[in-house]
Amino acid sequence: MRLECRYLNKIFWEGEKETRVISDISFEAREGEFLCILGPSGCGKSTLLRMIAGLLTPSSGEVIYDGERNSGPLNSMVFQEYGVFPWMNVIDNVAFGLEMRGVPRDERYHQSIAYLKKVGLSKYAYRNPHELSVGMRQRIALARAFVNHPSILLMDEPFGSLDAQTRLILQDELLKIWKEQQKTVVFVTHDIDEAILLGDRVLVMTSVPGRIKEVMTIGIPRPRSLQMESSKEFIELRMKIWNCIRSEVEKAMSHDHDES
Ligand SMILES: Nc1ncnc2c1ncn2[C@@H]1O[C@H](COP(=O)(O)OP(=O)(O)OP(=O)(O)O)[C@@H](O)[C@H]1O
Ligand SMILES: [Mg+2]
Repeated sequence: MRLECRYLNKIFWEGEKETRVISDISFEAREGEFLCILGPSGCGKSTLLRMIAGLLTPSSGEVIYDGERNSGPLNSMVFQEYGVFPWMNVIDNVAFGLEMRGVPRDERYHQSIAYLKKVGLSKYAYRNPHELSVGMRQRIALARAFVNHPSILLMDEPFGSLDAQTRLILQDELLKIWKEQQKTVVFVTHDIDEAILLGDRVLVMTSVPGRIKEVMTIGIPRPRSLQMESSKEFIELRMKIWNCIRSEVEKAMSHDHDES
């Protein structure tokens, strides 16, 4: 699925005071593309993704899927905080979307087990999420998103709360499933290395109000691995992106100092 954002703006009102959070954002994600959106904390990444998902109405501008406007909310978002239902066991969490679509129980369990295997959790199918670690719960969220074969997947810092090792493993699992399914992915992160490791292209946002500062193509061949992080190409890209984002972080910080 192709995604197009045209001149998106978002203004929040708090009483009389208006805050512009997203300012004139336009970009396109191509069919099957892995697009990363990178920006400093608080720059409006989640706000942008929620508008793309149809969970939040833009103040102006348009979100267009495969040339069509207003296609309604998408059921393919993986959130920043883990979003599994604590009252359902693991397999029912994964099967939730299938159940909503009326897939019979045997079939949805069959498909869900297949995806739990892909993320290494089939042994835990009948456990409750609270018995599992945070990393395992994020894996459930991954399996739950992909089992539905969404035509586009929107991910909001899905690995943000994980330790470095678990994060690397899940990034790898995500890339494997993405390669298999070739879905369009829009992946929000504030981690430069993560964006380079995962993305075909990286959109770098400014500090709030979020605009697009730069679009970078990541030419590093796939499959990518951890060893590549020490390659010349990777290091150069990291420096380039960091230089691009540093002034934004500094701007955001001096803004905070002004307010305090
Ligand atoms: N519903 C709302 N009402 C008012 N202000 C909001 C609302 N939602 C978000 N904001 C403000 O918009 C700005 C951007 O928030 P957002 O959550 O989109 O940033 P973010 O880039 O995802 O940050 P982080 O990296 O910390 O997740 C913040 O200043 C936030 O306080
Ligand atoms: Mg966010």
